[in-house]
Amino acid sequence: MEKRRILSEVALGNIPPDTIITNGILFNVFTREFLKDQSIWIKDGMIAYVGPDHDPLKDAKTEVIDAEGMVLLPGLIEGHTHLNRTGIEEFVRHVIPGGVTTVVMETIDLGLIFGKEGVEYFLRGLEGQPIRFYYTVAPLCGLTPSEEIKALKRKEFLPLLRDPNCLGIGEIYWGNIFLKKQGERIQKLASLALDLNKRVEGHTAGATGRKLQAYTCFGVSSDHEPITEDEVVERLRLGYWVMIREGSVRKELPGVIGVFNKKIDFRRLILVTDGVDPEGFIEEGYLDASLRTAIKLGVPPKIAYQMVTINVAEHFHLDHLLGSLSPGKMADILIIPSVGEFSPRFVMREGKAIFKDGKATVEPLKTAFPNYMFKSVSIADHTFPPPPDKGKARVMELVTGLVTKEKIVDLENSEGSRDVVMLLALDRVGQGGEFMGLLKGLGLQRGAYGTTMSWDTIDMFIVGCDTHSMETVIRRLKEIGGGGVYAIGDDIVSEFPAPLCGMYSLKPMEILRAEIKKLEESLKQNGVKLEKPVLTIDTLGTPAIPHLRITHHGYVRLRDRAVLGLEV
Ligand SMILES: [Fe+2]
Repeated sequence: MEKRRILSEVALGNIPPDTIITNGILFNVFTREFLKDQSIWIKDGMIAYVGPDHDPLKDAKTEVIDAEGMVLLPGLIEGHTHLNRTGIEEFVRHVIPGGVTTVVMETIDLGLIFGKEGVEYFLRGLEGQPIRFYYTVAPLCGLTPSEEIKALKRKEFLPLLRDPNCLGIGEIYWGNIFLKKQGERIQKLASLALDLNKRVEGHTAGATGRKLQAYTCFGVSSDHEPITEDEVVERLRLGYWVMIREGSVRKELPGVIGVFNKKIDFRRLILVTDGVDPEGFIEEGYLDASLRTAIKLGVPPKIAYQMVTINVAEHFHLDHLLGSLSPGKMADILIIPSVGEFSPRFVMREGKAIFKDGKATVEPLKTAFPNYMFKSVSIADHTFPPPPDKGKARVMELVTGLVTKEKIVDLENSEGSRDVVMLLALDRVGQGGEFMGLLKGLGLQRGAYGTTMSWDTIDMFIVGCDTHSMETVIRRLKEIGGGGVYAIGDDIVSEFPAPLCGMYSLKPMEILRAEIKKLEESLKQNGVKLEKPVLTIDTLGTPAIPHLRITHHGYVRLRDRAVLGLEV
């Protein structure tokens, strides 16, 4: 209260501001106007005044920043993202130059292997960083109940949901909410979140019509999965905040761009990355890159800027603090050269510059994780189940780099068995359990590749042409604490060590990019034709993408969640 009283005195001209930004073209997110010749007065990290008065009361300490006719925007808010192979420090370091001052982080990934403790250490790492973090916490939607063994219990969710920095439940895969036993747990969590006035963040890939509406009945308020114009409009009409995903892993803007030609309201559209991989960070950028793409594709800048500021703030009930340049809000301010050129020259968070003259002026805080989180790969004794080599067998066929389908092939027929490799799902938290399936369409000609960076599961996946190479990969993944390894026979050809939870590397972003590139190149040199093969193998066990997936119990057909073997 006292802070706001002081702010009000600054606006009245009775107390000098700490900083004045003058002479800018200010984007008003409420009216969508670019207003010329504007000043912002800042005190104690908050905005006291916004308007044409460039001459407040000053004292010796008042700093004046001349924006020289450049454009002033609120700091960007990233509404849905994940760490992608990288640690928190490198993430922060690479987010700052792009003008994102607030990030809503999904914490599912560290909870996947270490449950509550994984989430808690993750949250500690987000505290006190130069950019502001909020978070969502996921129920953990697995293919079968055994993928959900690390899911937080209701009593563990409660303190998190009561935390003001927790904005809701995230990543509720729509198919899971309707499952008998698994669904009930998620339904209860969703209603708990609603009771606490938190958001229930959806994930509706492929849902439509009555199913989408039935899912929406559980109080779901956002979705970051639409990939067509029709899907965007259907969800907007149901009251969703629609997050259009444009990051290096998934790029949906080109597919939905037609929506911006419609005469409808865009205030519930949000632009998010859903995570950017090291290659994307280095070569394109973060949400700044998504914004540039939006503007290049013809989204009017004023609409695009609303999508990463006020719209996100309103969705998460944060607009009393964030998302606009107006009195009483946090002084998170960007200066960009002109309306259509999104390349921040200056980034301020709560009144302090965090980026200027082409470099960051702050360092990310060091994060700490306990030793045991670097030793997450534990494989019980196992012998390879013999893969069938004759007769008919069920295989998982890659339709795209992410989507798969169930296919029955005759292994004695040369066409049927063409481009089929072994695919082993192996429990990697030491409980035992494995299933040997077959994968078609990868293109791998020799050796084996394995990963512990699998989405939504405690399994590691190893694809291979021979069991000797597969054994080498498993041994190496254990030695390096997880990540991705490609081997031929006894030789390790390339690897990406990701020892934190078997999913993240704490090395500098440039090194991560180089290691992944080398891994992908060696896979491509050995026959793999996919653009991002590492990602393809990581996603083989997620219920988030159709149609046939795999666990250490067997294949799982998403349509009916039937657990299926190789036998037909
Ligand atoms: Fe996500």
